[in-house]
Amino acid sequence: MSERLLIVEDEETLSASLKRVFLRDGYEVDTSGSAESGLEMLENGLYDLIITDIILPGIDGIELLRRIKEKFPEKIVIIVTAYASLETAVEALRAGAYDYVVKPIIHEEIKQIVKNALKQRALQAENVLLKKQIERQYDFSRIIGESPSMQKIINEVKKIADARSNVLLLGETGTGKELVSRAIHFNSSRADKPFIPINCSAIPENLLESELFGHVRGAFTGAITSKKGLFEEANGGTVFLDEIGDLSIGLQSKLLRVLEDQEIRPVGGTQSIKVDLRFITATNRDIEKAVKEGSFREDLFYRINVITIKLPPLRERKEDIELLVRFFIQKYSKDLGKAVNEIDDAALKILKTYHWHGNIRELQNIIERAILISEDGIIKVEHLPEGIKAEGSFLHQAVTGKLSIEDYTKAFIQKYQNEFNEQQLADMLGITRKSLWEKRKRWGITRE
Ligand SMILES: Nc1ncnc2c1ncn2[C@@H]1O[C@H](COP(=O)(O)OP(=O)(O)OP(=O)(O)O)[C@@H](O)[C@H]1O
Ligand SMILES: [Mg+2]
Repeated sequence: MSERLLIVEDEETLSASLKRVFLRDGYEVDTSGSAESGLEMLENGLYDLIITDIILPGIDGIELLRRIKEKFPEKIVIIVTAYASLETAVEALRAGAYDYVVKPIIHEEIKQIVKNALKQRALQAENVLLKKQIERQYDFSRIIGESPSMQKIINEVKKIADARSNVLLLGETGTGKELVSRAIHFNSSRADKPFIPINCSAIPENLLESELFGHVRGAFTGAITSKKGLFEEANGGTVFLDEIGDLSIGLQSKLLRVLEDQEIRPVGGTQSIKVDLRFITATNRDIEKAVKEGSFREDLFYRINVITIKLPPLRERKEDIELLVRFFIQKYSKDLGKAVNEIDDAALKILKTYHWHGNIRELQNIIERAILISEDGIIKVEHLPEGIKAEGSFLHQAVTGKLSIEDYTKAFIQKYQNEFNEQQLADMLGITRKSLWEKRKRWGITRE
């Protein structure tokens, strides 16, 4: 869709030539000979930009500008003025005109001004949209969980978000450590400053120091220019150090100095640079054990561990599973453009009892996959991966050694004895009826 311009100009030759110029550039252009009729045309709200002369038969251009700004503040107005009234042009800028051009009009000049104005506005609109998206994305409402343990965490996160204190996030893989760290940053007064996530285990040890602290020219072979480190990039904002448990002892002591002095020294540099950083760290390892064993510095541990938030594994808050399932169904059916909005009871039951070693990330992936392959708008057992279906079964637990054959048999009898008769049960277990009877007596299992 092309942008629409309105030219308000009483000199017909000028108005016609401007119209021609902009039409040729692909704009849609209308003209009006007076401010009054121009205002009327503006009522339909279709114009993106107005070019107006100052001297007009009735209401003048400045007054038109004022009325436009009052009613449609987002519209761009460009003023055309004769050299003699440059002062008026200044007045126009104060009243909210985007720019002015002086007669005689140079086509290239006015074209450039219009182009820039529209581009700037598009960028602004995009920024506003982006910012809204980001805010929505890291809104606390994105952290799903109504279990008491999650509610407690969400409340705590809200309370500490704006504190300066460093935060340590603990929890198994996929429990939401990064999600929480973003929620903390984007709800703190640092929100408009950088949030820099760094995965300590993803960057090779020998590169990590210069990545974090930067380096000066000639610091090592290949350092042909100096480079800013991530800590300096993050200045004023938040650094999220993921997998902190994997940091080498050498870098641990360098990090400790940053935390203590809020100063960094680039590799090969002699000067320290002041920084203002908040640190959020995360690990899925048992960091206290690492401290005891001497592989993680105790003093650093105390520095990063001012506030600790431990994210519970999903299997310890099973009441949240259904909520998460519905949340991800909504999300992925939208993202993938598929109208899936239901899950049948059997499939939901399997998801609710599964062990979720990969926690929410695993659940999320499974829902995404199920939506991709489902055909009739509903997720069914057949859309779940084999592993998940199997884990729910006793057999799988027995096979993987989680249940002894004794316990397996006992659980099997308890579960199915009211659904099947004696012979059927015995057949399924591969034992005789007599043996089944003996087992029941031994374990004291009676029929309801
Ligand atoms: N409570 C939650 N509500 C909604 N989505 C969640 C929740 N927790 C985690 N997620 C989603 O699950 C995925 C994994 O979360 P995240 O990356 O934060 O986990 P993590 O703890 O950092 O895992 P890892 O230790 O493997 O890095 C992300 O896509 C995240 O948005
Ligand atoms: Mg993570």
